[in-house]
This record gives sequence, C-alpha cells and structure tokens, in this order.
Amino acid sequence: MVIKKVGVVGCGLMGHGIAQVAAQAGYTVVVREAERGFLDKGLQRIRKSLDKLVEKEKLTRADADASYGRLTGTLELADLADCDLVIEAIVEDLAVKKSLYKELGQRCKPATIFATNTSSFPVAEMGEASGRPKNMVGLHFFNPVQLMKLVEVVRTPKTAENVYAEARAFGESVGKVPVAASDTPGFVVNRLLVPYMAEAMRMVERGDSTPADVDAGMTLGCGYPMGPFTLTDYVGLDTTLSILEGWQKRFPKDPMFVPPQILKDKVAAGKLGRKTGEGFFKWDGDKRA
Ligand code: 3HC
Repeated sequence: MVIKKVGVVGCGLMGHGIAQVAAQAGYTVVVREAERGFLDKGLQRIRKSLDKLVEKEKLTRADADASYGRLTGTLELADLADCDLVIEAIVEDLAVKKSLYKELGQRCKPATIFATNTSSFPVAEMGEASGRPKNMVGLHFFNPVQLMKLVEVVRTPKTAENVYAEARAFGESVGKVPVAASDTPGFVVNRLLVPYMAEAMRMVERGDSTPADVDAGMTLGCGYPMGPFTLTDYVGLDTTLSILEGWQKRFPKDPMFVPPQILKDKVAAGKLGRKTGEGFFKWDGDKRA
C-alpha cells in the first residue's frame, strides 16, 4: 500500500464522511473546501460524528481525538499537491468537476491517484480532464459514509491495473466492502436505486399512494431500512434531480430517467430534504419530525 496521505475535495454530506473514515483508518487527511463557512461546518460535522461513535462505544475517546488530529482543513488546492490519493466529493456538476480535475492534474504530483465520488457522471471524462486518465478511478461511497459498508470501485477502460488495485485496497482499509463497477450510468447501486425512487414519486404523482404509505410498504414489506421517500430526503432532492437530469441529457429516450414533476417542484421550492428541514417529509435536525 503506497497511499499515506489523502486529500478530500469537498467537506459536505459525502466529503466530511470520507475524510472522517480515512482519518479513522490512520491516514493523514487534508480536506479542502472552497469557503471557510462550508469548511467549518464540515469539520464540526466530523467532530459530532466522532463524538457519537464514542457515545455508542464504537470508538474510544483517544482514537476519536487521534483521528481528528490527523485531519487538516484548507481552502487551498495547492495543499493537496503531495497527496497520494485525492478523492473528490464536490457538487454533482460535470463541468465544475472537469475544471477541478484540470487544476488537480496541473498541481498534484505525477503519481497521485484521482478518485471521484460521483454517483452518476462518466469517470472517464474526469480522467481525460485531469490529463491523467490512467490514474483515474471512481470511489463511490454511500450515505452516511461512516455507517454504510459499501464502496463501488469504478474502473474506466484507461484506468491502470495498479491504480484500480490501490483504490480497492484503500476502500478495504477504511472498513468498506468494495464492489467492482464499470463506468456506466449509476454504476451498480444507483442504476437500480434512483429509478426506484423516481418510480415511487410517479406513483404519488398519479395519486395512487402517499409517501408515508409507500415507505411503510417498502420498509415493512421488503425489510428496507428506509422507504424511497425517506431515502430521497436523506440523499437530497437536489442531488436526486441532478442525477436524473444528467442521465436524461445523455439518454433522452429512456423513460426511467425522466425526472418526476413533483421532484422538480420541490427542488424549485427549496425543499431539498433533511438538510433544509423539509422534502417529502418534515425533519427536525437528523430525525423525521
Ligand atoms: N456518524 C455517527 N453516527 C451516526 C451517523 C454518522 N454519520 N449517522 C447516524 N448515526 C447514529 C445515529 O445518531 C443513531 O444513534 P442513536 O441511536 O444514539 O440515535 C445510530 O447511528 C443509528 O442510527 P438510527 O437510529 O437512524 O438507526 P438505523 O439503524 O436506522 O441506521 C442507517 C441508520 C444506517 C442510516 C439506516 O437507516 C440505513 O441503512 N438507511 C439506508 C441508507 C441508504 O440507503 N443509504 C444509501 C443512500 S444512496 C447513496 O448514498 C448513493 C448516492 O450516490 C445517492
């Protein structure tokens, strides 16, 4: 394993969790945000999550403090230049991601592995933008990163074998079970999950059911830990919409990728889910109100 220092770009919903699990696994971690306010909020979230793990006796206070001590926040991309692995977890906007990869390609040392946490965009395009397609993989974590055991490791036709192996080993080292995925829309999980969420919305749009009943159906009838509406609130309605819109643009003939109107309306109204206090349900902090 050659990875010792890990850079994380983005300290939001996914980035803070990725930075945290890497620090807990013993890596030196530099996490970069574009604005001081976002960075402070992300670091606070990490602190809170570590405290929760201590409270639940999943981590000792000493290990939590040591993990936090391995983390540094920065506003400068230049601070990621000597990282062995840079994981990007910024906004799901391909143009923004590509421009970041161009910059990372110019700034980082030649051996740096680039890993995107994108849930839906082509990993290969980001590899091309970085100028180092052989060093590019997808490392797709699941929310909440601290608790979910899966990471999808996405390989493009140009990903070097050793880069894929390093990324997979990194996933295991942070306590996740890696599954191999090809660079296809949604990889394995979201290709199934996002159309299922959209289909649930269409059911409610037609007046066939309600969010509460659909969720009860899927939790009690199928044993899912959350129904599709609670899960959409959890993931973020804006993120779900941007995934569908991205796919619709690339595959306009596929009816499964059409964003439901109810989703567009809620996003336009700023009802983005748990993070804004309301989506399909109302939220009181982290819990359903
Ligand atoms: N860090 C530390 N502790 C955390 C935490 C975090 N980030 N998040 C939750 N916890 C704690 C909770 O505070 C709670 O503590 P408490 O018992 O003291 O209140 C404890 O963990 C258990 O949480 P819950 O009470 O909510 O109990 P659950 O047993 O329901 O577990 C869950 C929560 C693991 C989130 C479970 O509900 C679940 O598996 N849900 C499905 C999540 C899922 O499907 N995720 C994938 C989303 S799709 C995705 O990410 C892909 C993207 O690209 C779209």
